[in-house]
Amino acid sequence: MKKSVIAIAATSVLAVCVTGCMCCKKGEGMNGKEASVVVKPFGKTKDGQLVHQYTLTGAGGVVMDVIDYGGKIVRLYTPDRTGKAIDITAGFNDMAGYETFDPYFGSLIGRYGNRIANGKFTLDSKTYTLPTNNEPGGIPCSLHGGKKGFDAVVWHVEPLAEGETVGLKLSMTSPDGDQGYPGTLKVDVTYWLTPGNVWRIEYQATTDKATPINLTQHVYFNFKGEASGDILDHELTLFADKMTPVDKGLIPTGKLASVKGTPFDFTTPHVIGERINTKNEQLEFGGGYDHNWVLDNPNGKLAKAAALFEKTTGRTMEVWTTEPAIQFYCGNFMTDKVPSKTKGKNLCYRGGLALETQHSPDSPNQPNFPSTILRPGAVYKTTTEYRFGVKE
Ligand code: BGC
Repeated sequence: MKKSVIAIAATSVLAVCVTGCMCCKKGEGMNGKEASVVVKPFGKTKDGQLVHQYTLTGAGGVVMDVIDYGGKIVRLYTPDRTGKAIDITAGFNDMAGYETFDPYFGSLIGRYGNRIANGKFTLDSKTYTLPTNNEPGGIPCSLHGGKKGFDAVVWHVEPLAEGETVGLKLSMTSPDGDQGYPGTLKVDVTYWLTPGNVWRIEYQATTDKATPINLTQHVYFNFKGEASGDILDHELTLFADKMTPVDKGLIPTGKLASVKGTPFDFTTPHVIGERINTKNEQLEFGGGYDHNWVLDNPNGKLAKAAALFEKTTGRTMEVWTTEPAIQFYCGNFMTDKVPSKTKGKNLCYRGGLALETQHSPDSPNQPNFPSTILRPGAVYKTTTEYRFGVKE
């Protein structure tokens, strides 16, 4: 694909129209929006690094504010059924919010999405120890790449455009031994925003030593708007008839369980709150839904993994992925002690939900799960799409 790169002045505000289509006047997209990428300063990390915000405006009405710190989606505006766009994701207005609370809001996650038991794995007869940073049920593990994962580094960002589709290429190199993982890992993640309101994420990585890798995005959705109560009324479909049960440390037992006849059966649409308080050991361990579903997608082709709908606004979203699994987390660890982006309002328990496409948690210790090991010479490549829409 031919990609044109937009030159951006690093610290100044600059609007760049990138549409060149014959059907639109003055660069306007199909919905009268002008596709653009705009950059401005966002703040500084505690250790003094400059952080920039890139606003991607899609020709179809979706707008995303992305920062180079962790590739985080700070704001995500999507239209409701009347055409009114509001921000539907959890995030913070400043770096202090991200560095104080660190709930992975909107973040790129790496090297390993979700948990690795006891922060240990053995690869090619060598045991590696990762610093642990999480302990559900009092049992320590490594979560989302460790103490300083890919969510907490400043990525190099290159704005992109291709016709009416705008994008950002985010790149970083994780050095050999980073957070205990072997190999120098070179990572590129590209966000595309299409005129059809699809946010497409392309992940790519190479390594010089064998290493586990499981990249994902931890964006939280609340289709009624950020800081607009909980998400228990959202209707979810998961195209998966199996899930990976966990122990009380939220580590998979290694078994695959059928969802049939359980509160984990989302093969047909269900409102999230409908069965969340059912007496069920898995729901107790997760404090609600915080589990990994194995997708009916064995061949690695882009396939539908999930669908989400909120009836008062009409917002819909489909999640498509090449990945074999999806973590559905309904914000069980969210609290009302955390500020929102709306002045004077805090977030709340289950105020957002994440649908994280990935391989299953703890795969490096689970011989029965698809492998997450990347070897030198191979290229890690996965794609996920969040397709936004509305219905009556
Ligand atoms: C995990 C949760 C965790 C959350 C942190 C999710 O991916 O499944 O257990 O608390 O990330 O934000």
